[in-house]
Amino acid sequence: MLQNVKHVIAVASGKGGVGKSTVAANLALALADTGAATGLLDLDVYGPSVPIMFGVRAQPEGTDHGIVPIFKHGIKIFSIGFLTERGTPIMWRGPMIGKFLSEAMSNVLWGALDYLIVDMPPGTGDAALSLAQAMPVTGTIIVTTPQDVALEDVMRSAHMFERLRVPLVGVVENMSYYVCPHCGARDEIFSYGGGRKAAEELGVPFLGEVPLNVAIRTGGDAGVPIVRGAPQSPQAKAFAEIAANVVARLAELVETESAFVPMTGL
Ligand SMILES: Nc1ncnc2c1ncn2[C@@H]1O[C@H](COP(=O)(O)OP(=O)(O)OP(=O)(O)O)[C@@H](O)[C@H]1O
Ligand SMILES: [Mg+2]
Repeated sequence: MLQNVKHVIAVASGKGGVGKSTVAANLALALADTGAATGLLDLDVYGPSVPIMFGVRAQPEGTDHGIVPIFKHGIKIFSIGFLTERGTPIMWRGPMIGKFLSEAMSNVLWGALDYLIVDMPPGTGDAALSLAQAMPVTGTIIVTTPQDVALEDVMRSAHMFERLRVPLVGVVENMSYYVCPHCGARDEIFSYGGGRKAAEELGVPFLGEVPLNVAIRTGGDAGVPIVRGAPQSPQAKAFAEIAANVVARLAELVETESAFVPMTGL
């Protein structure tokens, strides 16, 4: 139930494994750190990551009115993984997934939120369509790695959201560069700057870059994302900067009234 949610923001990518869940989780926490009431919804039916990234093993409580999201690290979270047994893959076909997602989306009692960040499954398809049909999405953030193959997927994903008439908030480049913890040298393992280039081509803001860093991965694995685990680290600051850019861009989108377009599907 979303009557009191001001902004729904999908975090998507054309390709799997580029760090959508990592960016979604840390961005949600960085937004909460600005004093905003924030929620995180994990719609990844194929491999929900939020229960692991937040170290949540408990099932959320069901009431007569709906499901109560779990409060962890200062935000409300709900994952499709809470509804399925851990380790059990979902093997439904498209229409069933759509039905399951819309039921899950309409039954969570979010209460009043400034931001609901939605961690999308990889690729284009059913989940994006179900989300866009189920709720008014303020905008989408596209996450990419810097190299060209990933960028092609970014453009495809961006154009799909355009067809759904969901505005693009901007592009985040993840695994942008690596700083050697021993000597401080910087390496651009997956090339560099592709995210900015894609944002320019799409005519949307470049929201920021996140380094490839072991503490980002271990934080996610241990249930304490880096923004909570090491709030003073340069990596956490990168997420805070992205959050500030997102807030600024949303203000701009609201002003131009291109946001809040009711979805009609393809
Ligand atoms: N900047 C980073 N530095 C180090 N490790 C990272 C970084 N970003 C993501 N990872 C790690 O890479 C793996 C994939 O990241 P994540 O699960 O966030 O990607 P995803 O795009 O959500 O994947 P999927 O498409 O499967 O949903 C995880 O183990 C995560 O901890
Ligand atoms: Mg993911």
